[in-house]
Amino acid sequence: MSFRNSTATDYVEDVSPGSGALPPRAWYPASDATSLSLNGSWRFRLSPTADAEDDAFAEPGYDAGGWAEVSVPGHWVLQGHGAPAYTNHLYPFPVDPPRVPTENPTGDHLRFFDLPAGWDGTAGGAVLRFDGVESCARVWLNGTDIGEFKGSRLPHEFAVGQLLKPAGNVLAVRVHRWSAGSYLEDQDQWWLPGIFRDVTLLHRPPGAALDFFVHASYDHTTGQGTLRVDSDVDGRVSVPALDIDVATGEAVTVPVEAWTAETPRLYDAVLATEGERVPLRIGFRTVELADGLIKVNGKAVLFKGVNRHEWHPERGRALDQETMLADVLLMKRHNINAVRTSHYPPHPAFLDLCDEYGLWVIDECDLETHGFTEQAWRDNPVDDDRWTPALLDRAARMVERDKNHPSVVIWSLGNEAGTGRGLTAMAEWIHGRDASRLVHYEGDIDCRDTDVYSRMYADHAEVERIGRELDGGTHKRRRLPFILCEYGHAMGNGPGGLADYQRIFESYDRLQGGFIWEWIDHGIKDDRYEYAYGGDFGEELHDGNFVCDGLVFPDRRPSPGLVEYKKVIEPVGVEGDGTTVRITNKQDFADLSALAFEWSYQVDGETVEAGTLAVPALAAGESAEVKLPEPPAVPGGGEARWTVRALLAAGTAWGPAGHVVAWGQIPVSARQSPSVAASAAPVSGAGRITLGPAAFDARSGALLSIGSVDVTALRLDVWRATTDNDDGAAWQSDIRYAALWRKFGLHRMRHRLDAVETDGDALTVRTRVAPAAWEFGLATVYRWTSDGDRLGLTVSVTPDGDWTVPLPRLGIRFGIPAADRVRWFGGGPEEAYPDTRSAALVGRWESTVDGLQTPYVRPQENGARADVRWAEIGGLRIEGDPEFWFTARRWTTEQLDAAAHRTDLVAGDTVWVNLDHGQHGIGSQSCGPGVLPPYQLHADPSEFTFVFTDIG
Ligand code: GAL
Repeated sequence: MSFRNSTATDYVEDVSPGSGALPPRAWYPASDATSLSLNGSWRFRLSPTADAEDDAFAEPGYDAGGWAEVSVPGHWVLQGHGAPAYTNHLYPFPVDPPRVPTENPTGDHLRFFDLPAGWDGTAGGAVLRFDGVESCARVWLNGTDIGEFKGSRLPHEFAVGQLLKPAGNVLAVRVHRWSAGSYLEDQDQWWLPGIFRDVTLLHRPPGAALDFFVHASYDHTTGQGTLRVDSDVDGRVSVPALDIDVATGEAVTVPVEAWTAETPRLYDAVLATEGERVPLRIGFRTVELADGLIKVNGKAVLFKGVNRHEWHPERGRALDQETMLADVLLMKRHNINAVRTSHYPPHPAFLDLCDEYGLWVIDECDLETHGFTEQAWRDNPVDDDRWTPALLDRAARMVERDKNHPSVVIWSLGNEAGTGRGLTAMAEWIHGRDASRLVHYEGDIDCRDTDVYSRMYADHAEVERIGRELDGGTHKRRRLPFILCEYGHAMGNGPGGLADYQRIFESYDRLQGGFIWEWIDHGIKDDRYEYAYGGDFGEELHDGNFVCDGLVFPDRRPSPGLVEYKKVIEPVGVEGDGTTVRITNKQDFADLSALAFEWSYQVDGETVEAGTLAVPALAAGESAEVKLPEPPAVPGGGEARWTVRALLAAGTAWGPAGHVVAWGQIPVSARQSPSVAASAAPVSGAGRITLGPAAFDARSGALLSIGSVDVTALRLDVWRATTDNDDGAAWQSDIRYAALWRKFGLHRMRHRLDAVETDGDALTVRTRVAPAAWEFGLATVYRWTSDGDRLGLTVSVTPDGDWTVPLPRLGIRFGIPAADRVRWFGGGPEEAYPDTRSAALVGRWESTVDGLQTPYVRPQENGARADVRWAEIGGLRIEGDPEFWFTARRWTTEQLDAAAHRTDLVAGDTVWVNLDHGQHGIGSQSCGPGVLPPYQLHADPSEFTFVFTDIG
C-alpha cells in the first residue's frame, strides 16, 4: 500500500491530463459481464481548499459517520453545499494558467460496497469507470491511491481488480472545483463541481473485450453495406438479421438498409470474445466530403439542428435516462434532425438515443478557453505545447468513447478556444484515427485543420454571400461546405428571422443548415425566483440571464421559439393557389409514405368540411401538384381558406399517429372589413359626453365605459417591456434599440391634450404624444363614432420631428376590470411577432388571460397574437381594420419591464389590453443580427380602426 505525502495536491495545477487511468476505449451500456453501479448516496465532506484535509479519509476503517450525504451522480452545489456560479466566458478566477485560487472548494466522497454474489474476484480483473467528474479527481480504492484525472465530461477508467475484496470495499474520491483543467473548460454555463455522471465497477472476465471499432459503411450505388469490427481482443461478430457471422478484423459486404437520421435502421449484433458478449447496434452509413458538400450515403444533408447542453433545472448536468429521452423525443417531434453536443461529449447514453431515434450528431470535445480573449489570447493553452498532451487526451477520450455511433457524423475539436498548435495536433490525431468522419472547429476561420467552413451568428446577408461563393477566404475554405454551428440565439422572446435564414439555406447547395443556440434555458429551480440565473447566488462575476437562451424553458416546456422553428424547418412544403396544392418532400432521404395528408376548409375560422388528401409517396426532393376538392358551398360566404396538414400515418418510435409534421394555409376569399355606420351623435351633459354605448369625460375626451364595461386610460402606446433581443448584447457593434428607446424616452411618453371636438356624428380628440427633452413626437387623433350599438375608433398618427429610431409598438392600450376568458379569430395558438410568425395558424382560438402569457425566465414583452380579426375579452368584442396584434395581461407593461424574475409579476385587478397596429420585429441581437428591415416598425403616418361592442 503506498501513500503520497498526505497533503500533496500538485496534480490539481498540473497541465497533464492525469495519471493512472487506462487507455480510452469504446463505451457500451452493458454486456454479459457483471457490473455494479456505484451510483446512489455517498458520504460527503466539503472543505474550503484543496489541502485543508489530509487523505486519511481514504483509509479503510475511517469513521465518516459525521459526514453529510450527497447523491451521485450529482453536483454538491445543487445539494446544499456551496453555490453554483455562472459566467459566460470570463474565468471566475485570476487568469494565471495553470494556477487556480487557494479557495478551491474540495469535496471528499466515500462509497462503501460489497461485490455482488457470484462476482468471482479472483477470475479476471475489474475496471472502475467514472463517466464524468468536474473538474479534477483523485481516487483511492481500499486505501490505495489509484490515480487522478481531469477532463470533466469524459470517461476515465482504472484497473482495480487486484484491490477488490468480496465485501467492505472503500472507494474514496476527492474532487476539486478548480484545477488546471478548468482553463480548458470555460464554456458558457454554470460552474458545477461534482461526480455528475455514473460511477460503475465492471467485471472483466479473462478474455473480456477491450476496445473495438465498428466500421459499417454503405455504398449507395450498390445498396451494400460493409462491416468490419476491429477488436483489441479477437472474437466473432454476428448480425443475425444479415446472416453475418465473421471473425473480428474480417470484412463482409451484404445488401443492407442504410442508416440515416430520417431512417435510423439499426441492426442488432453481438461481439463475442472469449470472455464477454457485447451487444451492438450497427448502423450502416458513409459520411464523406464530396463535390464540396457533406454527403451521407451519397446525398448532401441539410442540418436543421440545435445546440444541446445537458441541463436539468434541479440536477444540473446530472441527467437521467428519462431526461435524455425527453430531449430526443421533443427534438424529433419538432422536426429537428441534428444536434451539436455543445460544448462537450454528452452522457454516452444520449448518443445511443440519437442512433435509435435518428439525429445527426456533431460530437464536440470538452474544450473551451474563451476567457483568454480578454488578454488577446496570450498564454492560450491551445497554443502552448505543454498543454498539448491534455488536448490530445481529451480528443482521444471523445473519439474512442463515441466512435461506434452511426449518428456521429462530425467530430468537433471544441468551442471558442482561439487558434493554436494544440488544435492542429488534435485534428491531425482525429483524422488519423478515424477517416470516416469530418472534423469541425468554428474557430479555424481558414479551415486549415477542418473539413467544414463553420461560423456562428453570421447575419443573413453574409450567409447569402457565402452561399453564392462570394465570400473569399483561403483556397481551401472556398471549396468547403458551410454550416452555422450557432445561430438564432433563443434568449427570451425570439429568435426572430429564422424563416429568412431557412430560405437562404434552401437556396444554395453550399449552405448545409445550422444549429440554433440553444436547446434549453439553464435556469435553476429556486423557491425565491421560480428559476434562478446568473447573479442569483451572489456571484461576484456573472452574466445574468444570458444562461437562459433556449428553445425550451428549464422544465422543457416548449417556448414559442421552438414552435416557430418546427414550422420553419418542416420536412414537407405545402403551398397552393386555391384549386391545387403543391406538396414538396423536403427530406434528404425518406419518401412521404410515413405521412398522411388532410385538408380542411374554414370559413371565418370555423371548419365547415374536412377530408383526406391523396398525396403520392414522393421521393426526397420531389414535388407534386395535388388537386383540392371543390370548395364547399357556404351560404353567406365569409373569409375562407384551406388548411392542409401532413400527419404521421401511424405511430413511430417518437410520435403518435396523427402527430402534425407540417401544414400550410391557402386563402380563398378575403375578409370583409368591419365598419360602423356613424348614425349616433355625441351628446354632452353633466361633464360627460355619450356616444352610442360609450361614455367619455367631457373635459379630457377620455373613454370611461363601453356599455357595462368600465375602461381605464385608453390611449396611444408605443412602449414594450424590452426583450433580451431589443436590449442586445453589449459586444454587438451594431445599433441596439432598447438603449436608444430609453434614451429617447419612449417608455415615458407624455400625452398633451390639444382639443376635444364634437362635430356632427363624431367625437374627435386631438393630442400630441412625445417624450420630455426631445422635439419629436406623434400627432395623434382619436375619432370616435357609433351606430348606436357599436363604437368605432379610428386612430390617426402623424409623426413630427426627426424620428431616428423605430417604434417598439404602435397601437392603443387600456384597462378593463378583471377578465378571464379570451376568444379570438386570428393567428394562434401561440404568440407571434413580425419575424416570428411562421407558426401562427389563422383560426379561432381560446385561452385564459394567464394562458396568453409566455413565461420567459426573465420577464419581457411576450404574448402578442398576430393577424387578429376580432377578439372577445371581459364582455367586449373588438374588431380591427386592418387586423391587429392582440395582447392582454394582468400587469402593466411598466411592471413587466421592471420584473427580473417570474415571481416579480403579481396580478392586479385590471386586465391591460394592447391592440397594436404594428410591432417591431424581434431579431436575434442578444447574440447576432438585429431585426431585418422588412420587420422594423418605423414612425410613419398611420391610421387604424377598432370597433367595440359590449357583449356583456
Ligand atoms: C457563443 C458560444 C456559446 C454561447 C453563445 C451565446 O459564442 O459558443 O457557448 O456563449 O455564444 O449564448
